[in-house]
Amino acid sequence: MSRFRHLFVVALATMVPAICAAGSRPDIENGKATFNITCSVCHSVQKTGGGIEGPNLIGVVGRPAGSQPDFTKYSMALKASKLTWSVQTLNKFLINPGEMVPGTFMPMQIPDNKTRADVVAFLASLKKE
Ligand code: HEC
Repeated sequence: MSRFRHLFVVALATMVPAICAAGSRPDIENGKATFNITCSVCHSVQKTGGGIEGPNLIGVVGRPAGSQPDFTKYSMALKASKLTWSVQTLNKFLINPGEMVPGTFMPMQIPDNKTRADVVAFLASLKKE
């Protein structure tokens, strides 16, 4: 019996790193699904028309924070933040926007590392043209 248990532990020990490695690649489809549930109430990712409550997020990677021209309700805090959105800055912002940019109107947090990476990968996949 103990021999089987030993085999079982060895099997687990070799499987767990493989599962973790497979899970560490961002999943754009999962990011899109999460975005549709938690972000799309306020943010549009359509080519035309802005969001009503929040700025359109097409092409957000590479653009300065608070600079979407159709959105007129940015906080002073975000406009003054001097951030440029990249995979890294978005990933940090979305842990807790108010901690990175105190005074921002952006309320949504994504504490889970994997989910956040997936959403950022989805945002990075959105191009204007
Ligand atoms: C209740 C409405 C609301 C929800 C839900 C929401 N946001 Fe926002 N978001 C905003 C507002 C308002 C701003 C503008 C913040 C400011 O001016 O300080 C913003 C700003 C942003 C910005 C900066 C955009 C720019 O042009 O600088 C990003 C990126 C962002 N949100 C991503 C997300 C993501 C990803 C989610 C889902 C996890 C999400 N938001 C959910 C309202 C929302």
